This record gives sequence, structure tokens and C-alpha cells, in this order.
Amino acid sequence: MITALILSLFIGLGQAQRFPTISYISQEKIQDIGGVVELECSVQYVRDFPVLWVKVDSVDQSRTTSISTGSTLIVKDSRFSLRYDQASSTYTLQIKDIQENDAGKYQCQVILTIAEKIKADVMVSVRIPPIIFDNSTRSVVVSEGQSIKLECYAGGYPPPRVSWRRENNALLPTGGSLYRGNILSIASVKKEDRGTYYCIAENNVGKGKRRNIAVEIEFSPVITVPKPRLGQALQYDMDLECHVEAYPPPAITWYKDEQQLSNNQHYAISQFATADEYTDTTLRILSVEKRQFGMYQCRAANKLGIAEAEVELFETSIPICPPACGQVNYSSGASSNDMAFLIGLVLIMINVVRR
Ligand SMILES: *[C@@H]1O[C@H](CO)[C@@H](O)[C@H](O)[C@H]1NC(C)=O
Ligand SMILES: *[C@@H]1O[C@H](CO)[C@@H](O)[C@H](O)[C@H]1NC(C)=O
Repeated sequence: MITALILSLFIGLGQAQRFPTISYISQEKIQDIGGVVELECSVQYVRDFPVLWVKVDSVDQSRTTSISTGSTLIVKDSRFSLRYDQASSTYTLQIKDIQENDAGKYQCQVILTIAEKIKADVMVSVRIPPIIFDNSTRSVVVSEGQSIKLECYAGGYPPPRVSWRRENNALLPTGGSLYRGNILSIASVKKEDRGTYYCIAENNVGKGKRRNIAVEIEFSPVITVPKPRLGQALQYDMDLECHVEAYPPPAITWYKDEQQLSNNQHYAISQFATADEYTDTTLRILSVEKRQFGMYQCRAANKLGIAEAEVELFETSIPICPPACGQVNYSSGASSNDMAFLIGLVLIMINVVRR
């Protein structure tokens, strides 16, 4: 009786030990795109129970796609292969040239009955270099004083870190030369904040990605006059200059005595944009006459405002150089000094003749 009990206990234990189990499953795999992963599942006492490799749907975890059953591959994808090692009772699933959509949860299953199965999971992650999504800011144009929000979103695996910098490592309006986060906000932009901003996404897989974001700030013109007072002798040319800073580029005009000046035999107006928002303008007064001494105004206007600055031209007895120095040019090879001497000589002679 007792022996029968002990015997049945032993049998029971023996049966319990022979219950099918998954004795080994691979650890999580992290692989670069294009790489190879091998997933191992070792089983014991499975007898005739089917052993399956399946992929678990990332959204609906109750849905699975069968990859293999026993030592037979089900999926029709040449990148997949299956090895069965009888000695260790191990089913090895190999995936070559791994792609982004191969990432996810793989499961080794031993099917006992329709309702009952033993399972073990292994996660496969595919490392993907960062990509910057299209919903990131490309460029912005705002008026001075307004607020801006620069956005940058990036994907990849592991999820990339997003940071901001400015061209030439310039100081960010947020302070410092680096800002971490998806959104760079500036409450009230100043014209100094304009320029190129970089959104950088990095995850240590391959090279990081960078997007250049142009920040254009519209502001009303600001004029600086390098030389507010200039002297010149009669009959010599003189250049009056104004430097204009404005965006959008301004319309520039010159005035004398409330009269707008234009290009003619007395004046030559030129403009030269040194950058998007810098324009140098020069008014050349040709062969200065007495009535041309006095105050001149340069005026710059764009949709945000108007600025005006004054330059004074006064009379001197000696020609001022530049621009007067080389203006008498008979291409005779004579230096300008020689020329001035010659002219002086001629004037003296005329005077002599008059007497
Ligand atoms: C930007 O686009 C990505 C990918 O399309 C999306 O996952 C993300 O939620 C979007 N972000 C915003 C703020 O729209
Ligand atoms: C004077 O004329 C010569 C010859 O045409 C020219 O090469 C030179 O640049 C001129 N000088 C000035 C100051 O205009």
C-alpha cells in the first residue's frame, strides 16, 4: 500500500519533470539595419507537441504571425532561415539583412492543446540612424518683437536626442550655444536673433542628422553714417555714404533741400547689398558746385518703417583724397600730383594772361 503510494508519487514526479518546457530563449537582440540576428529556443520533453516561432503584432499583442513550425519555415522570405539541433533540441531562427519592420517581439511557442501553450518572448530591436521628420520647421519669417517656435522631431532607434545650435556657434536666444529639446521658443525676437539655426538629431547610430532652419526677422531700417561731415574743394567729386540695416531690403533715396536726387550729370547714386539685411549706399557728387555744399539726407524705407540720416558736405580749399585724387585722368601716365600741378600752372597762366 505504502509502496504503491510512493510509486505513484514517483510516477507523478516523473511525469511532472517530463512536462514540456522551454529551457532557454535568447536575450534581447539589438542589431544595426542590414545585420543578422539569431534567435534560439531550446525545449525539453516536447514529444510531438508542435514548436513554433511567431512574431507578435506590435499593436494587438493577441495577434501573431507564424514564422516556423517544428523544423519547417512558413514565411516566404529568403532572409529567414531555421535550424534545428536535435542534440540540444534547439530551434534557431536566423534573420539576415534585418530591416526596420523586423523589429518587435518574437515568441517561441509549444502548443499543448488548442487553448494551452507554453511561450517565451525575445525582443528584437533594429538600430536606425536618426531621421528628421517633415513636420519640423523649415524656415520662419517674423517681425521684430514677435515670438517664434522652432520645432524639430526626429525618429530612429534608439530614439535620437534633439538639440539646437546656431551657425558659427553663435549664442542662442535661450542663452548658451546648445539647447536640448524638440522646441526652441523665443518670446520676443530681436534682429540679432536672425540667421541659420541647426536642429541636430543624434543616437550614436551612424552620423547624426542636421537640418538648417532659416530665421528671418523683419525690422525697420537702421541707418549708420560712417562720416557725417565731409569736406571737398570745388570741382572735385565727393562720395557721401550711408549704411542701412533693414529687412526686407529697403527702398533707398537721397535728398538735398527736400528734393529727391536722381542719377544725372551732377549725381550718381549706387547701392550695394553686402548681405540680406545690409545695404551700403553712396551718393557721388560729380564735380562739386557751390550750391551743392550743405546737408544731404539718405532715407531708407521698408514695410516696417522709415529711417533717415544726414551727411554734411562743406567746402575746403584743398581737394580731399579720396575720391578726388585720381579723378583727373588723362591716361597720360602722369601721376595725379603732376596733374594737379599742371592744372595749377594752367590756372596761373590764365590769370597772368587776364592781367
Ligand atoms: C511629427 O511626425 C512624426 C512622424 O510622422 C510623428 O510621429 C510625430 O508625432 C509628429 N509630431 C508632431 C508634433 O506633429
Ligand atoms: C586712369 O586711367 C588709366 C588708363 O585708362 C586706368 O588704368 C587708371 O585706373 C585710371 N586711374 C583712375 C584713378 O581712375
